[in-house]
Amino acid sequence: MFDDNAAAAPPVWRQIDRRSRALGFDMPSEPDTGAMLRFLAASKPGGRLLELGTGTGLATAWLLAGMGQGASLVSVDSDPAVQTVARDVLGGDPRVTFAIGDGLDYVRAHPPAAFDLIFADAWPGKYEGLDETLALLRPGGFYVIDDMSRQPNWPPGHQPRGGALAARLKSHPHLATVALGWASGLVIAARRP
Ligand SMILES: C[S@@+](CC[C@H](N)C(=O)[O-])C[C@H]1O[C@@H](n2cnc3c(N)ncnc32)[C@H](O)[C@@H]1O
Repeated sequence: MFDDNAAAAPPVWRQIDRRSRALGFDMPSEPDTGAMLRFLAASKPGGRLLELGTGTGLATAWLLAGMGQGASLVSVDSDPAVQTVARDVLGGDPRVTFAIGDGLDYVRAHPPAAFDLIFADAWPGKYEGLDETLALLRPGGFYVIDDMSRQPNWPPGHQPRGGALAARLKSHPHLATVALGWASGLVIAARRP
């Protein structure tokens, strides 16, 4: 029961997974993270969703699998070489727009309360520009991050940074936050109405 999320992945995810491996993309999100994103995306019919850090589009595929027809998703990455996989496989879906650029520039270019769900999967929006990113959440909107449990590839000194981020989210006056020992360690925060 608890190990079947990869088996339940959207068919396009398999295609992206194969291409990610061939490319040597070494920062993929896990199927369990994807299943959580799909679940959360399904709760936002007509919602506007944002992914910071497309990578090759693994999480993008899960988000799209949860979204209704009236919802939309923007996914931003600074590296066209990896995002091209996502564009090739998912670009035909009219609900998704891919952008190339710095995630924080993207955040700063948008007014507050513009999004119903933000998956912050790059340095910007997580360890940089956190307050500006959280300001983009509409009331009831979700902010999601992964890789919050200790990872073998963390550089020295990263652990306290992750702890400080989790603590900021947990004590934030406008957020209700839950930390989950799920996949690589998820923290999910909902903006209080
Ligand atoms: C952890 S990976 C994203 C993984 C992806 N979301 C997935 O589900 O597999 C982080 C991504 O952030 C991108 N990135 C790094 N710095 C960035 C920046 N300043 N702005 C936007 N994207 C950035 C990297 O190119 C990389 O693809």
